[in-house]
Amino acid sequence: MAAATTEVRFSSSVKLSEDTKSKVIEVLNARLADTVDLKTQVKHAHWNVKGIHFFQLHELFDSIAAHLEDQSDLIAERVTQLGGIANGTARQAAADSTIKEYDFNAVKGEDHVRALVQRLGTLANAARKAIDDTGKLGDQATADVFTEITRAADKDLWFLEAHLQG
Ligand SMILES: [Fe+2]
Repeated sequence: MAAATTEVRFSSSVKLSEDTKSKVIEVLNARLADTVDLKTQVKHAHWNVKGIHFFQLHELFDSIAAHLEDQSDLIAERVTQLGGIANGTARQAAADSTIKEYDFNAVKGEDHVRALVQRLGTLANAARKAIDDTGKLGDQATADVFTEITRAADKDLWFLEAHLQG
């Protein structure tokens, strides 16, 4: 696993200490890797799901992938606002992600829903922890970015998990 970049490369008028910026950039780049990685996994599910509920799940998975795309942009641009370098290429994400490799045996809708619940749960709970971690570091704006991401990820988790409940 490659180390996430933490360095502050550019100075800016954002009034946080260099040490705080560096620690926050580390959290942001770690979660950026998860988000970019999971987006490609959700696209895999969107493309390959089979079965009687194909169309509904094909559409649902695409909406979740679009949310992850937006979230990766929010995270990456917060890195650059703090003067860091956003590590968001597919290769960087693959090296640094904490998301499990996809279940390539998944075929039917329920298999893909279960695989995505597990992986989106990892992402949502890491983002939830990042709210506290960046808030304690004194960067409430980044904590707010992670609050927005957690709220959206929790909603997408609900949309997935409702298929497995009841
Ligand atoms: Fe598509």
